[in-house]
Amino acid sequence: MKQALIDKYGRQLNYLRLSVTDRCNLRCYYCMPEEGMHFAQRKDLLNFEEMYMLTAVFCSLGVSKIRITGGEPFVRNGIMPFLENISTLEGLEEITITTNATLTGKYIQQLKAAGIRKINVSLDSLDRQRFYQITRRDSFDAVYNTVFALLNEGFEVKLNCVLSAAKNVNDIIPFIELTKAHPLSVRFLEEMPFNGSAAFDDINWNYKDIYNHISQHYDEVITLENSPTSTSLNYAIPGYKGTFGIIPSFSRTFCGTCNRIRLSATGELRTCLYGAPAANLRDVLRNGADEAAIREMILLAVSNRLKDGFAAERVNTKTVHDSMSVLGG
Ligand code: GTP
Ligand code: 5AD
Ligand code: SF4
Repeated sequence: MKQALIDKYGRQLNYLRLSVTDRCNLRCYYCMPEEGMHFAQRKDLLNFEEMYMLTAVFCSLGVSKIRITGGEPFVRNGIMPFLENISTLEGLEEITITTNATLTGKYIQQLKAAGIRKINVSLDSLDRQRFYQITRRDSFDAVYNTVFALLNEGFEVKLNCVLSAAKNVNDIIPFIELTKAHPLSVRFLEEMPFNGSAAFDDINWNYKDIYNHISQHYDEVITLENSPTSTSLNYAIPGYKGTFGIIPSFSRTFCGTCNRIRLSATGELRTCLYGAPAANLRDVLRNGADEAAIREMILLAVSNRLKDGFAAERVNTKTVHDSMSVLGG
């Protein structure tokens, strides 16, 4: 019988988040400082051959959905042929991407040809000036145009908008108004106090504040059903083509139904967003391990997975975490 990644608590890990680079061409205030970070050296990154082999192993273990993340995935040279290669892997039903959409526009036809249908775009403001303040780069037009080019080509688009009480609360309603005529989903994310981001005690705008802000503006808000593994609580305004969601990424945990496993650009395997790596698969691979040995390591990491991840510890100890750009979100 085919092996699957099922932890001691019965959760099947069938969703791999694969970070292909820790680099990014934006400098979002909640992710990294203006000067960037100490980025990994090229030799320390998994090369595409290694990434392909590991991806194939994950698929042989029941992974059916892969989300490509970064950093920004499209700053990595050679990303498109890699996506084309993995798109034919047996058992892989869906490849999705989380991108800042600054460089994505020119790949739209190739993405379509590779069978990719769903893209999540990080976009924190619909105001050019505010976009610049948040990302420290003047790329609003490229991102905005790419969102609509993706929609025109039939992609399912979700926008991720990280909210800060001090910065972009005024964007909430304009974002929801975008869903009136366009079939996209806008998701408001609580800011997570990761590296380069706010201090724990400064995070005071949570999912309740976001929901209250919205419900005060509209006569009716429809509550939609959420899939058990969804990160977002989903809603819609009657008559609007799109939907919106709130991701309580900081104030709540998703541990109970978490189906995600993560591989960083340098080969670190994580069974929890907040936890330390369970293994470095790049090192194991470069030390000569074959597919069977890699499979065993992944199975072992999954069997050691904690019930509640490290989500409770993140609040109690106020641990400082790496940037999302390193963790892959
Ligand atoms: P879909 O597959 O479209 O549902 O996307 P997603 O929500 O899984 O992925 P995306 O890359 O758009 O991530 C959105 C945000 O969800 C992340 O930035 C995090 O804030 C949050 N998130 C994703 N996975 C986890 C997790 O395991 N734990 C916590 N606490 N937050 C997570
Ligand atoms: N808090 C919340 N969301 C974050 N992201 C990156 N850093 C943070 C943070 N500190 C979001 C990005 C992207 C998603 C994968 O993670 O906006 O859409
Ligand atoms: Fe780049 Fe995403 Fe980090 Fe912004 S949040 S700097 S787009 S990796």
